[in-house]
Amino acid sequence: MAVEAVDLVRTYDLGGVSVSALRGVSLTIAAGDYVAVVGPSGSGKSTLMHLLGGLDRPTSGRLVIGGRDVATLDAGELARLRNETIGFVFQSFHLLPRTSAVDNVALPLVYRGIGGRRRRELAAAMLGRVGLGHRLDHRPNQLSGGEQQRVAIARALVTDPVLLLADEPTGNLDSATGESVLTLLEELNADSGVALVLVTHDREVAGRAHRQVVMRDGAVVVPAAAEPGAETGPGSATVVPAARRRPEIVDPAPSAEPRRASGSDSGHPSGGSGGATGATGRRGVGDESPESAASAGSLGSAGSLGGAESAGSAESPGSAESPGSAESPGSAS
Ligand SMILES: Nc1ncnc2c1ncn2[C@@H]1O[C@H](COP(=O)(O)OP(=O)(O)OP(=O)(O)O)[C@@H](O)[C@H]1O
Ligand SMILES: [Mg+2]
Repeated sequence: MAVEAVDLVRTYDLGGVSVSALRGVSLTIAAGDYVAVVGPSGSGKSTLMHLLGGLDRPTSGRLVIGGRDVATLDAGELARLRNETIGFVFQSFHLLPRTSAVDNVALPLVYRGIGGRRRRELAAAMLGRVGLGHRLDHRPNQLSGGEQQRVAIARALVTDPVLLLADEPTGNLDSATGESVLTLLEELNADSGVALVLVTHDREVAGRAHRQVVMRDGAVVVPAAAEPGAETGPGSATVVPAARRRPEIVDPAPSAEPRRASGSDSGHPSGGSGGATGATGRRGVGDESPESAASAGSLGSAGSLGGAESAGSAESPGSAESPGSAESPGSAS
């Protein structure tokens, strides 16, 4: 089993105002699963993805990733678990801008203690698998949007994760390019057995998954044994098998991510969660934007490939427990 989540609650503290992003979500992702997460803007999809990927910690609830309860892990252990278990793909790619495709893909391998030459070999092979063997040395701005997303997918997969989390991976792509990216993700799911969890606003895309998780107001909607549109209370959320889903529950008017329009492409005010989680002793991954923790892109400013995928190195260099702050890649794993 890739992930088991029981009654996840995530509450943000915004200057004394409490924001309930998740109100008790339970969910199991099995090996090889293909799950679509759908729901209106603000319903908690990205928050859930960040938790499932170990980029953030729940305020309460039980979360087991790759057999390990995240509550028992310190920030460094969680970062390593992420590196070994999870691949992330985001709507806005999050690639290092001045770094070639092959080096972007090779970044997460720094923690595996793999030498530079071998890292590039593995990265080049993965780029070949996503159809970019001829674009190894192109930088992101020399690639099309679909190619950039394929680089991001290669980077997510180069570590051979058991779980691939994709948060609106086709949101910035035209429909034809989005289709090819989606097909690629589905092939990887079918061929490699990597579990795929995909956030999408596209009803047709969602219908291709093995099952759907329909979110609304921070909870999972359960239509099967209830009236259309009925919701569960916190704690009783479950998933919706595709065969039994009610398409009318899927948000018919997807938003254009209004919160992201103002600049930050993470959509999550960095540090907004840090104060609250820090105060309760949950430090580390909650201290910054979850997406910046997952993305090598945000670590470009650190100027060190060794910082790739670290939860803490760029923002908190003093964190001795972050694998990213260990200058020697060989010491990790
Ligand atoms: N860091 C944060 N601080 C405070 N509130 C937050 C933070 N991140 C998310 N929220 C709030 O939590 C709720 C869920 O946000 P989330 O990003 O998970 O929604 P979403 O379903 O992914 O929406 P979209 O479809 O627009 O991407 C929203 O009301 C949002 O404003
Ligand atoms: Mg979102």
